[in-house]
Amino acid sequence: MMMAVSRPRLVVTGYSRGLGFELVKLLQKEHDLTFVGRSEPPLRNDFADHWVKWDLSRVEDNSVRSSLLSSLQQSPGRIRGVLHSAGLVDPVGEWAEDSLAGADAAMAVNTLCFGKLVGWWLPSLQAFSGQSLVFHFSSGAAVNAYSDLAAYCTSKAAVLMFSRCLAQGLAAENVAVLSVAPGTVDTDMTRPLAHSDPERLPGLQKFRDLKKEGGYANAGDVALQIADFLFSEEQTDMRLKAHGKLYDVRKPGEVSQ
Ligand SMILES: NC(=O)c1ccc[n+]([C@@H]2O[C@H](COP(=O)([O-])OP(=O)(O)OC[C@H]3O[C@@H](n4cnc5c(N)ncnc54)[C@H](OP(=O)(O)O)[C@@H]3O)[C@@H](O)[C@H]2O)c1
Repeated sequence: MMMAVSRPRLVVTGYSRGLGFELVKLLQKEHDLTFVGRSEPPLRNDFADHWVKWDLSRVEDNSVRSSLLSSLQQSPGRIRGVLHSAGLVDPVGEWAEDSLAGADAAMAVNTLCFGKLVGWWLPSLQAFSGQSLVFHFSSGAAVNAYSDLAAYCTSKAAVLMFSRCLAQGLAAENVAVLSVAPGTVDTDMTRPLAHSDPERLPGLQKFRDLKKEGGYANAGDVALQIADFLFSEEQTDMRLKAHGKLYDVRKPGEVSQ
């Protein structure tokens, strides 16, 4: 009789599109996945993967906790990572009276739900035999200001600082905390920025210029680089170095902050 092989499990957000989707395609070859998000996972393996439906902008909703914990109970000792790819760039534009409503959602999706997921899963990550990971997509916007992206920059700066604080309390050999900036990548998130109106959104000139220069990276190529960084044996030293720092995939070997 064939024995079922128990594979490590990753908890992933932002799997439905863009960078997260490309990353999941690669990671699914060697991992079981727990998808956390509002959209049905396009690549689910029904025998191994779990989907916990959660609109991450509703960070206060604790009704998902029991579904998450049951996924965890079915995988004792196998939780290898929490990978946060979900992101929200809106509200875009000059700060205005009604900006705060959308900014709440950006803060919830980009920052707060990650803190919540990590809080729930950290003991399991610490119990993994070998190095486990807490990963999120960072951004140049975490450290550079853009007048038309105030909510995005603020939430990305906050999640970077959260990760730095988290890393201070953890040994990188046990749980590596990795904040990775992917460069500017052609996805649903960046396309509207690249094609935005210069009169209405003067602060997004960088994105329009980059588009003209053909400077947008391909999501599949970037996901390959990131999957290698997160899990290959050869990148072990680099992961130790990047623990609690900002790693930009366009500058391999370097970390900042
Ligand atoms: N693209 C770039 O150039 C770039 C640069 C720097 C950093 N990043 C970061 O990289 C990550 C991925 O970006 P991307 O460009 O791939 O974005 P994307 O194509 O717009 O995909 C965003 C993902 O986030 C999920 N999401 C958004 N709001 C959600 C909500 N309320 N609940 C659950 N899931 C939600 C989406 O799920 P649904 O399909 O359900 O909406 C989707 O899977 C983000 O953190 C982004 O900030 C991207």
